[in-house]
Amino acid sequence: MSLTFPLHRNPDPATDDAVARVLADPGFGDHFTDHMAVATWTKDGGWGADEIKPYGPFQVDPASAVLHYAQEVFEGLKAYRHDDGSVHLFRPEANARRFQASAARLMLPELPVDAFVASVTELVRAEERWVPGAAGEHSLYLRPFMFASEVFLGVRAAQTVTYSVIASPSGPYFAGGVKPVDIWVTDRWARAGVGGTGAAKCGGNYAASLIAQYEGYDHGCSQVLFIEAAGKDRVEELGGMNVFLVTGDGRLITPALTGTILDGITRNSILTVAADLGLRPEERRVTPDELFEGIADGSTVEAFSCGTAAVVTPIGAFKSGHGEWRLPEGGSAQTLAIRDAILDIQYGRAEDRYGWLRPVS
Ligand code: PLP
Ligand code: COI
Repeated sequence: MSLTFPLHRNPDPATDDAVARVLADPGFGDHFTDHMAVATWTKDGGWGADEIKPYGPFQVDPASAVLHYAQEVFEGLKAYRHDDGSVHLFRPEANARRFQASAARLMLPELPVDAFVASVTELVRAEERWVPGAAGEHSLYLRPFMFASEVFLGVRAAQTVTYSVIASPSGPYFAGGVKPVDIWVTDRWARAGVGGTGAAKCGGNYAASLIAQYEGYDHGCSQVLFIEAAGKDRVEELGGMNVFLVTGDGRLITPALTGTILDGITRNSILTVAADLGLRPEERRVTPDELFEGIADGSTVEAFSCGTAAVVTPIGAFKSGHGEWRLPEGGSAQTLAIRDAILDIQYGRAEDRYGWLRPVS
């Protein structure tokens, strides 16, 4: 049975004034809209109970499996308002497929791609007035997620699962906007290992990354770069973003997908548009030594992080217990060109050459 997410309107939505106040300065992850999408899966009945309903708390039994064994996955994507007022999703099918892959790794049911796309589309349609304008790179951040809601304490794949999507008007993830951020390279903590859940977007990965992120904060950094856990010879990704290096001779280098990092949709989009910008993409192993030496000898001229929430953010320096490697000051020309190329497609200012936008209204 295909899911259609019929709308049951919130009888008590936020006033237009309240919405305007939020949209004037949305921040990131602080405000939520009037509705949410929900659906339920049971082992015997499959998917059902799909609807868009008033935003509100779940009733979670204390014995719900997710609270004990962290069987949960999520996604992040955005709806963008174009200058003509229309609203568009960016590559939602890619999020839907990654959601399926994450679910499969966590022994959760795979939501059909069309059901995922219907849930975000119908929610955004219901929340049109919550989609900010393009000024300040504002957008409506969408957070689909799925968790083991079965009330049972045995360790097994849950037989009752809740799917939901919430929406949050958002501005830049980093409070400083496009100001370069410093990155802490941890050699103490690992986020994921071979055979683990690194390639899945599951809450447990983020719980495991927090201690390293706070180590980074203690060293004046805003994010952490993880190194492969066993051999310590591969740069992987940041706690919530992928990482790229730009060399003076026009190479755009990012760690290959080895099963321990997230297959970022922004990463993939950047690799796709690279040639349009005269850059030669390379997906391969990057050793920590290569990272540090390239900056020290001047062959690496730029570095940036990327993700749906962070968009593309220049990196000012990498710091570790062994030293500090600072990128040339004010040298983010390629990073900003990549940033603009992606944002211009998302906000409809450039031709959608790759067919990535899905109009919602
Ligand atoms: N890596 C991690 C660990 C993330 O949480 C994210 C954010 O979603 C990314 C990379 C970037 O992925 P995407 O570009 O699909 O948002
Ligand atoms: C996203 O970019 O969508 C994420 O999920 C990353 C998170 C750090 C907000």
